Order: sequence, then structure tokens, then C-alpha cells
Amino acid sequence: MERMNRTVSHLALAAGLVFGAAAVHAATPAELATKAGCAVCHQPTAKGLGPSYQEIAKKYKGQAGAPALMAERVRKGSVGIFGKLPMTPTPPARISDADLKLVIDWILKTP
Ligand code: HEC
Repeated sequence: MERMNRTVSHLALAAGLVFGAAAVHAATPAELATKAGCAVCHQPTAKGLGPSYQEIAKKYKGQAGAPALMAERVRKGSVGIFGKLPMTPTPPARISDADLKLVIDWILKTP
């Protein structure tokens, strides 16, 4: 009986850890980008319909005003900076301003 009680409490503890972890898991920037549809056109290092995150980071890394400009282009759409293919606008309904900022900071850190 003692042994069974221990097993039960271990199971409860394990379940608590699993569900607890799921509840506090905040989406990573990569997950946010996928959810917002960015990943349809952007990949970390390979060129897709859009430039790779690496290419974008190389162009803007260390420039103070860049994140705000980049966010504005994601919102309004953009063409002609990296090539002839346009980026379609992404409205706040697809990704909040705060989450977009996280994604852009993450893009800029692409090694
Ligand atoms: C339909 C394909 C497509 C989607 C979806 C898309 N992009 Fe783009 N993105 C592009 C293209 C193409 C460019 C290059 C535009 C240019 O040359 O002006 C670009 C450029 C960018 C740039 C560089 C902007 C600059 O200031 O030069 C950033 C940052 C960016 N995308 C982030 C995102 C993020 C974040 C998302 C999701 C919220 C997203 N993109 C969704 C195609 C896309």
C-alpha cells in the first residue's frame, strides 16, 4: 500500500510537471513567425520567396533605427530592397506589435 501511494504521488508529480511546463511555455520567436505566416516566405539561412533571416540580419545588424523600419515594412509590405518579389502586408490580426518586435529582434540575431 505504501508502495502504491508513492507510485500515485509520483505520477501526480510527473503530470504536474508536464502540464505546468505546457502552461508556462511562451511561444518562441520562431514559433511566432511560423504562426504569423512569415515562414512561408522566410527561412533562417536559405533564400525562399523572401530573403533569408541571415541576409536581413547582415543588412541591418547594429543599425539603431532598423527594427522600427523593418516592422513598418512587414506591416505595409515592401518591394525593391532585396529584389523584385514583394512582401505582402501582415496586419496586427496575424501578429501583435509586441510579438512582431520579438520576431524582428530574433531575425537580427541570426548568425
Ligand atoms: C509573401 C511572402 C512573404 C511573407 C508572408 C513575409 N515576407 Fe518578409 N519579405 C518578403 C520579401 C519578398 C521581402 C523583400 C522585400 C523587398 O525587397 O523590399 C521581405 C522582407 C522582409 C524584411 C526586411 C524588410 C526591410 O526593412 O528591408 C523583414 C524584416 C521581413 N521580411 C520580415 C517578415 C516577417 C516578420 C514576416 C511575418 C510577419 C514576413 N516577413 C512575411 C516576403 C514575405
